[in-house]
Amino acid sequence: MKYKDLIKKMTLEEKASLMSGKDFWQTMDIERLGIKNMFLADGPHGIRKQAEAADHLGLNASIPATCFPTAATVANSWNEELGEIIGDYLGKEAVAQKVNVLLGPGINMKRNPLAGRNFEYFSEDPYLAGKMAAGMIRGIQSHGISACVKHFAVNNQEERRMSIDTVVDERTLREIYLTAFEIAIKEGKTKTVMSAYNMLNGAYTNENIHLMREILRDEWKYDGVVVTDWGGSNDRVAGLIAGNELEMPTTAGETNQEIIQAIKSGRLKEEILDECVDRLLDLMFVTEEVFENPQKDFNRKEHHQIAQKTAEESIVLLKNEDNILPLKKGTKVAVIGDFAQSARYQGAGSSIVNPTILEHTLECLEESEITSIGFEPGFERYGKRNQKKIDRACALAKDADVILIYIGLDEATEAEGLDRQSMKIPDNQMELLDALYNVNSNIVAVLSCGAAVEMPWINKVKGLLHGYLAGQAGARAILRVLSGDVNPSGKLAETYPLRYEDTPSYYNFPGKEVSVEYREGIYIGYRYYDSANVNVLFPFGYGLSYTSFEYSDIQVAQDRVTFTIKNTGKFDGMEVAQLYVGCKSQEIFRPKKELKGFTKVFIRAGEAKTVTIPFDDKTFRYFNVKTNKWEIEEADYQIMIGASSTDIRLADALFQEGTGAPLPYDKANLPSYYSGKTNNVSVEEFEKLLGHKVPVSKWDRTKPLGYNDTIAQCQYAKGGFARFAFHLIHFAHWFLRKIGKRSTANLIMMSIYHMPFRGIARMTGGVVNMPMLDGILMVVNGHFFKGLSHVLKERSKMLRVAKAKQQ
Ligand code: BGC
Repeated sequence: MKYKDLIKKMTLEEKASLMSGKDFWQTMDIERLGIKNMFLADGPHGIRKQAEAADHLGLNASIPATCFPTAATVANSWNEELGEIIGDYLGKEAVAQKVNVLLGPGINMKRNPLAGRNFEYFSEDPYLAGKMAAGMIRGIQSHGISACVKHFAVNNQEERRMSIDTVVDERTLREIYLTAFEIAIKEGKTKTVMSAYNMLNGAYTNENIHLMREILRDEWKYDGVVVTDWGGSNDRVAGLIAGNELEMPTTAGETNQEIIQAIKSGRLKEEILDECVDRLLDLMFVTEEVFENPQKDFNRKEHHQIAQKTAEESIVLLKNEDNILPLKKGTKVAVIGDFAQSARYQGAGSSIVNPTILEHTLECLEESEITSIGFEPGFERYGKRNQKKIDRACALAKDADVILIYIGLDEATEAEGLDRQSMKIPDNQMELLDALYNVNSNIVAVLSCGAAVEMPWINKVKGLLHGYLAGQAGARAILRVLSGDVNPSGKLAETYPLRYEDTPSYYNFPGKEVSVEYREGIYIGYRYYDSANVNVLFPFGYGLSYTSFEYSDIQVAQDRVTFTIKNTGKFDGMEVAQLYVGCKSQEIFRPKKELKGFTKVFIRAGEAKTVTIPFDDKTFRYFNVKTNKWEIEEADYQIMIGASSTDIRLADALFQEGTGAPLPYDKANLPSYYSGKTNNVSVEEFEKLLGHKVPVSKWDRTKPLGYNDTIAQCQYAKGGFARFAFHLIHFAHWFLRKIGKRSTANLIMMSIYHMPFRGIARMTGGVVNMPMLDGILMVVNGHFFKGLSHVLKERSKMLRVAKAKQQ
């Protein structure tokens, strides 16, 4: 321990007090020992430091900060160095705002396209996500403060996110859901990790000994701090035993008492608490150093330009029929679509940033030198039909050479706490597109949203530029790509399936009651489409450029692959070359190919460059469930270089010696996994993969409701009052949606409907304590008067204790 002497000077109460927040964002301080408090703030694509009213839903204003493109956007740059640059700028702003721990990046896998926070995450591929995150962490932490990689782990749905149990087999866990974290920890050296709200195989992630101790601490040698997600602590002592130092936000001392009691009763060893205190102190002292010097404000303009550059490298050109883009000088353009007058540039929820500057397309048009003949909004942003708007847009479109239509998803559709209901672009926007197409078929669509959407309308547009959620300077960046000032170089970090029904987790997403079963196993994203031969709209790694690249001269060595890329077109440009590896042996099931490296190179028109992608410890490894270790199978491997996951330009073979581990599976038991067709695996086969029975996935409606049951479960509560409250909440949600207040309706879902009862105590900063919650649960379970009197009794007790403390 680093701070043994200091810890010796601390009382048990003081030590316990450091283990949870002082308030919503700060940790506890101990003045007499020179221990200061730390400030933690969201994250991940800008600083959300709330100076006054605090919340974790993005409701109350925060101090202005640069809103960089979200992770889903940045990942399309496939540029680790750019990740580091953004991290550097984020770090500067965090220091300027006196933030010790920046709550990001978020690196959960995009298991399903409807998952509500996909816009905040990088990719469906752990290697790409891990590398981008590691860069960002290095950048943030170069300023002395800490990043906080989140949400550890397997947090892939928003519905019931605080209680859902994710059932996943060990190999899938390691290869898909943990690899990005492993990279972020080992290569990014993050000093803080945020545990996820959900359970993993029956235990809350922050209490999960396998995840928190065996993997994070013992295998990965992580010696930083683990903080709970806000309100995500269930059993505080179990969390501490697993090595979760900090609980956020404050519980007004309630859980400190639980820690103290646990030590007194012998449930918790004081050494464990001391170790946790030691790691927390280290984080505090290390991240505090930078604040010893006077802080400078950051240069808003310069940071805005970095946000723009990031967006420029991340925008993806998906279609360019007849080379309609870049727009030729003098082309008469009709600008249509609500998103052109009011940019869609970030998602909703805890990541929401109050931007320093916000640019919209219409304001930047003149400077872009695109010849606009006018603008029409064309549709109502929140989905209402409006024929007049369509008519006006068509009238304008008639006189244009090219229609630039700005479409996408609105901010109430992509929000933390909720999963999307479908992969569709709203009908009213499609009606507009249809009408425009009948008038003028020279259409270029600019898409703004943070996740994959279906595009049955793709044939109605000649050009398609995907801006994703491009941050506060995104509008200008998009115009620069349209005009040709910037040659697009982004490639998709996720697959665009043809239809939602094609997705591998279609039948198992989201988990609706107790659990969600990851029956598709390791086959998420392109790993599935590729192995199961399912056609997609746009594959993983896909993106066009205004120039063309030719690949040649592959040379495979034991530790690297080298090849040449030539820019054969007329524009200078950047190309993302991707290394995929496939194993020729059929003994262990695997995806046809997996991303194992990538590089982005700038090449002038007509020039060629030799590039090398080194192999690393992940190139040939797989997780063997028999030896419980990473192993290498002795086999021939295919080394593939692709311009996307389906556009393989060069290939060669390489023999690898193996580690001699026994084969982990009995082929006959796992036919779906060996065929790669895992979108509809039977429970029996899934259980064979898991090695045990799946837990019961339905609520036991005969049992009284407890701390970890959600408010939504009041629908079958014994207490009439609880059932009435449920219907009221349900009605309020329906009504708010009906009258068009979708964001407020969302809030009901995020902060009430899916909240476990324990959240009432954990998230109210001491207004309701656990004994009062016991009373509430009595009411819920049909003992109205007994419960009510319990609540009142416990409340006066709490107030008495608080008063006594003040005196
Ligand atoms: C989110 C975290 C966020 C935290 C604090 C939670 O609801 O899941 O990502 O950092 O709130 O705002």
